[in-house]
Order: sequence, then C-alpha cells, then structure tokens
Amino acid sequence: MKKIQKSLELSEYSFKELSPTYQNLVQKAKGAFESSYSPYSNFPVGAALLLENSQIILGSNQENAAYPSGLCAERVALFNYGANQRPTEIVAIAVAVKNPIDSFAYPCGSCLQVISEFENNQSKEFEIIISHPKEDKYLICKGVSNLLPFSFKKENLI
Ligand code: THU
Repeated sequence: MKKIQKSLELSEYSFKELSPTYQNLVQKAKGAFESSYSPYSNFPVGAALLLENSQIILGSNQENAAYPSGLCAERVALFNYGANQRPTEIVAIAVAVKNPIDSFAYPCGSCLQVISEFENNQSKEFEIIISHPKEDKYLICKGVSNLLPFSFKKENLI
C-alpha cells in the first residue's frame, strides 16, 4: 500500500487585510447575491470574477421549479465569461452567501470542476476568495487544486 497525500494551501484574512482590489471584488460578490433567484432553497449566493483587464463579471444562483435546471452562482459567472469571448484571463473569483450560516460555504464540487477547466485553459491559476457569512474572515485559495486536488481533466478523455 502506498499512501498518497497532498497538502492544501489556504490563507485566512480579515477584510482590512485584503488588497483594495479584492475588497471591491468581495463587495461585488455580496452585491451579486441580491440578484439571486432562489425561492426554493432560500439560499442566495453571489460570485464576482475579476479579469486581467480589471473587468468584473457577476453571477448569482438561478433556480427553477424543475429543481435540477437551476445553476450555481459561480457557474453563472464563469459561463457568462465563457459566452463573452473570454476577453482576458481570470485573476480571481470571489464567492459570498447571504444567509448568516456559521461556516464558510465552499463552492460545490460541480463548480470546482468547472473552475478547474477554466483554470486549465489559461496560462495561470486564479485565486478563489470565499467570504465567511457571519465573521470578518476571508479565505484565499491559490488555484482550484487546493479545493479540488484531483479534478477530471480534458486530457483524461484522450
Ligand atoms: N449554490 C451556489 O450557488 N453555489 C455553490 O457552490 C453551492 C450552492 C446554490 C445552488 C442552490 O441554488 C442553492 O445554492 C442551494 O444549494
């Protein structure tokens, strides 16, 4: 038996410790959850993508009476970026949930898988900033591999 281990690199910051650019991005993600359509879960989520040209692309979760037809905030933002000619590379994605839950709400597995493919299609990793809904805590994760160490890659299909 061979044990396979991978260490994860995540850092926690207060709002004050974030760069002004990231402070703004986090505020944008928090603003984005106001446009969530989540009457079924009552769990509004917002996402804000920062591009290299300083453009910000927003997303919020959009639900549907046919439950599986809805989509998470992160993927709404990423697919919006994808559908708009990917102007420049992604620098970061900030994610925020509205409800004052007691823990960080990490992006779901499907969103991590999608983040992973967008990351693999560009020249460098991007940062994922997760806001604590109740406390002054922000996790920054350099690259999706810190949240999804073993993603399925397009190379696996060949
Ligand atoms: N949700 C997101 O928007 N992002 C995630 O990463 C996890 C979950 C949404 C989906 C659904 O509308 C609601 O939160 C409850 O699961």
